[in-house]
Amino acid sequence: MANWSPNSWRDKPILQQPEYPDSTKLSAVESELNSAPPLVFAEETRSLYKSLADVCEGKAFILQGGDCAESFSDFSAANIRDTFKTLLQMAVVLTYGGKCPVVKIARMAGQYAKPRSADFETIDGVSLPSYRGDIVNSFEFTEDARIPDPDRLMKAYHQSAATLNLLRAFAQGGLADLHQVNRWNMSFVAANPLKDKFQQLAERIQEALEFMEVCGIDSTVAPSLKETPLYTSHEALLLGYEEALTRRDHLSGDWYDCSAHFVWIGERTRQLDHAHIEFFRGIKNPIGVKVGPGMQEDELIQLVDALNPDNIPGRLTLITRMGADVLPEKLPKLVRRIQQEGRKVIWTSDPMHGNTEKSTTGYKTRSFNNILREISQFFAVHKSEGSYPGGVHLEMTGQHVTECVGGAYGLSDEDLSQRYRTQCDPRLNADQVLELGFLVADLLKDARKAR
Ligand code: PEP
Ligand code: CO
Repeated sequence: MANWSPNSWRDKPILQQPEYPDSTKLSAVESELNSAPPLVFAEETRSLYKSLADVCEGKAFILQGGDCAESFSDFSAANIRDTFKTLLQMAVVLTYGGKCPVVKIARMAGQYAKPRSADFETIDGVSLPSYRGDIVNSFEFTEDARIPDPDRLMKAYHQSAATLNLLRAFAQGGLADLHQVNRWNMSFVAANPLKDKFQQLAERIQEALEFMEVCGIDSTVAPSLKETPLYTSHEALLLGYEEALTRRDHLSGDWYDCSAHFVWIGERTRQLDHAHIEFFRGIKNPIGVKVGPGMQEDELIQLVDALNPDNIPGRLTLITRMGADVLPEKLPKLVRRIQQEGRKVIWTSDPMHGNTEKSTTGYKTRSFNNILREISQFFAVHKSEGSYPGGVHLEMTGQHVTECVGGAYGLSDEDLSQRYRTQCDPRLNADQVLELGFLVADLLKDARKAR
């Protein structure tokens, strides 16, 4: 890669970075991180790359999901387990319903840094620097809490390592066993209106497994029945942190950002001549970029050329986040242009960030209906353009929070105060994720039939 190094982004303009009062301390923490072990290995990242190449060719589907922002205070085994289970449960529904492999990518083990729409937050006439995620400052609304602290980078690294350790154990050690599908269901969706539908599906999978066992196919000969690859991802916003975890792979000589398998550039930091594009163009990870309603066709082609100049399938995922109302107008021309120019990209739908609104009770929320509507429109556009809807990207949790309105339980604006826990954006709760799983599985089935 010509004229690139892990720190070449430092010569470019950059947005959404914290202003650390103590730059000496920041450099010390960054160099400590630079000598710490990587969180993921290049070989794992390469296997995700291969799976994403399959998605690009229409042979698999991506399910990416997790918190808007992980937090230090919600760090617990139960939280990690429940989000993992919820993600897996939706993946099983999609795999079975859509009859296609599902690539699972968690927004976990590193999703701490947040871009903000304003640098300052004002409450009752008091203005303080915005909260930028636990890796930067604290959510608490006091002057001290909002000062960016480099020690938080180290804490985020260690918490990511512990999270990843548990995720790996779950993914390989039985919690991902398809034979357990019924058991997840028992404690998990006991009161869900869709319980019967899920139970029937679980029974059908169980029967298929029993039949396979009779034929001599069990987890000893087919380990994929009891374990699953699970990859990690986050918005690589703090480039100092990402640079410190970027390592040269001894086998290939290539640079990998080893803070996660998959990293993406947010909607607010994807300017062509800025630092994030510079950093991302040199790393070999599969990468994503958010595409909002303001994106123009020419700009998109330039972006794709900057990030995937060799047009390699699986390298680049365009994560569209337009809003349910504007997607039908904005997405088709972008898809058409990419098709015309023969660019190999994966299209996924983030139905969350274009559908944020304020509830009548004052909470930042999203409606299940709009989320589903954006996904449905996304599938419809790809159907009419002859392109492939490659996945969904969700903000979700395994906890029974009340942050998004609607869904089978009909959560209302008044219900939001019951368990509104997010420090950032409103997430789908476990029941809403499952419900969405069934609905997206039907769309996926239809999309795959059409191919
Ligand atoms: C996010 O994914 O949490 C986010 C901030 O998204 P976007 O960059 O699309 O606004
Ligand atoms: Co968010």
